Amino acid sequence: MILDLPKWFDFHAHFRQGPAMGAYIRAHLDMGCAGGVAMPNTKPPVSRVFGEALEASWSIEHYLHDLNAAGGGAFEALIVPLYLTRATTPEMIVEGVARGMLQACKYYPPYGTTNAEHGVSLEELIGGEVLRELEETGIVLCLHGEQHGLSGDRYFDAVDHAESIFYREKMPRLMDQHPRLRVVCEHVTSEAAVQFVQLAGERVAATVTPQHLLYTVGHLIQGLRYHLYCLPIVKFEADRAALRSAVTASKQSQFFAGTDSAPHTTKATAGGCAAGCFTGGCAPQLYAMAFEECGVSMDSEAGQASFERFLCRNGAAFYGLPLPEQGFRLERQVGRCDLLETPEGPVTPLPVGMERELTWRLAALSEWVCVSSQGNLAHFCFAPRREGAGLRMLARVQTPWNFLEGSFVCGYGGAVAVGVSEWLEHEI
Ligand code: NCD
Ligand code: ZN
Repeated sequence: MILDLPKWFDFHAHFRQGPAMGAYIRAHLDMGCAGGVAMPNTKPPVSRVFGEALEASWSIEHYLHDLNAAGGGAFEALIVPLYLTRATTPEMIVEGVARGMLQACKYYPPYGTTNAEHGVSLEELIGGEVLRELEETGIVLCLHGEQHGLSGDRYFDAVDHAESIFYREKMPRLMDQHPRLRVVCEHVTSEAAVQFVQLAGERVAATVTPQHLLYTVGHLIQGLRYHLYCLPIVKFEADRAALRSAVTASKQSQFFAGTDSAPHTTKATAGGCAAGCFTGGCAPQLYAMAFEECGVSMDSEAGQASFERFLCRNGAAFYGLPLPEQGFRLERQVGRCDLLETPEGPVTPLPVGMERELTWRLAALSEWVCVSSQGNLAHFCFAPRREGAGLRMLARVQTPWNFLEGSFVCGYGGAVAVGVSEWLEHEI
């Protein structure tokens, strides 16, 4: 079983900072990822739009420069949201939008997750000029939707927890006071959050991680699997079921991929319990496994369309990004996943930490066809060998050879064998 998909955007990823960034970015590129949202919870936070790196804050301009220098330039689009702090001003939003540097802002519940100590509470933001400016400009507010500052017994209980309290008690006021605000509810984990998103309508969307589709809190505590520990914490079976039916619902447009891949090098080695699952290199495979666990037949056209909507289309549409012209391929075969070596130490991907075999793998694209050429500038398409499947533009490649239109290349990116294929000529 082979699935040919457009490259996808990860609308919630942490690429961190310093020498390990390159490895994290590479892992994303290697899994057919064309970019997405690079979260701003660095140290210091990305809480200005323009200017030099200062001791207390970085700017989007500076962080994007670092990301690009570490290999992020190979992505098609990278959005760094502005970390909302007490120092955020409406002028930052206006200028950021005017100069094309600002596409999203991020709400962190104060002290609610890794490097969230600069966050401002939702109460303080609601009704203020910063959110008014987001409404005015259509800039997306990405929300880490958990109520902060709860006592342990309210933080996580069978009936209510930090996420359900946030969506039931805090979000309605935000929606009322800012009727045009566009919101992405990040990494939703519960039935309460899913219901909120579905009732809120088109201006609200949500990212869903692979871990929240695959696991429940039982998997986390059975043997204290700290590689599965992330925030918001995995919930109960009814919550997972709500997530599963939301992402696979026919023609749904509000839920999309955002892995929240959040590498912590010391997590495995020091046995520390930093919050964050690392899914670089294996996220599309995990999502495909999750869809199959939801009962979606990936062999059927409807199943493939629903997977493609979730992984590739909905998020790009919400953020107004063009669908990547290039594609990538998944194959239902046992896949490999290894520790990621970084200059700061190894990072354990979620399936390794969970000792879970991948039943999908990334596969090399094996047939390309040259659809047009001018000298050695060839326009290649990937032509899926499927009845009735259209051609998908893959790359514009400068090659040392002159390709004739209709010539056919095997191998990924390299001209391993060149020939002319009857059926491809026919399809063109
Ligand atoms: C993230 C991190 O490590 O940066 N951790 C996590 O558990 N998800 C922060 C976040 O997105 O909450
Ligand atoms: Zn995150």
